[in-house]
Amino acid sequence: MTASATATAAPVLRVKDLVKEYGEGDAKVHALRGVSLDVERGDYVAIMGASGSGKSTLMNILGCLDVPTSGTYQIDGADVGRLAEHQLAILRNRRVGFVFQSFNLIPRMSALANVELPLVYGGVGPAERRSRALAALEQVGLTDRVRHEPNQLSGGQQQRVAVARA
Ligand SMILES: Nc1ncnc2c1ncn2[C@@H]1O[C@H](COP(=O)(O)OP(=O)(O)O)[C@@H](O)[C@H]1O
Ligand SMILES: [Mg+2]
Repeated sequence: MTASATATAAPVLRVKDLVKEYGEGDAKVHALRGVSLDVERGDYVAIMGASGSGKSTLMNILGCLDVPTSGTYQIDGADVGRLAEHQLAILRNRRVGFVFQSFNLIPRMSALANVELPLVYGGVGPAERRSRALAALEQVGLTDRVRHEPNQLSGGQQQRVAVARA
């Protein structure tokens, strides 16, 4: 099989034996005890479980915001644990869209500026990023709020800005 055929057939996400431990000694918490899963292109996947069962821990690792104690994680065949910090930054910018439970919008920046920000980091020019951000905000029904700052928006509206940004 050629390298390109392998890449096409590979799952988008491939997680193997992920372990995450927080703390040490008596305070040690086993947040993940050997999680393995594949996500195929186009899949919609819900991670469900009781409060404290490790969902956020897993999502933080899948989003490349945290690293596992052991185990491997591949995005499109690239072993995330082997990437240099700058390669990881590019991967996060281009391949990961994260909608946080607590929004994590930047205060004192308009909804439009918040949605544009990943495109700024991604090197997209001003005209294109403006039109793409406006289109994303329109898709979530916030055309009349693009100049508002996060603290001028309702919780649901802030979450829609976060969806548009993702
Ligand atoms: N930074 C941390 N330090 C120590 N323990 C943590 C930390 N983050 C999460 N935990 C613990 O890890 C377990 C899994 O937490 P979490 O992934 O947030 O669960 P969930 O999102 O499913 O509610 C919980 O027992 C939690 O108390
Ligand atoms: Mg959680």
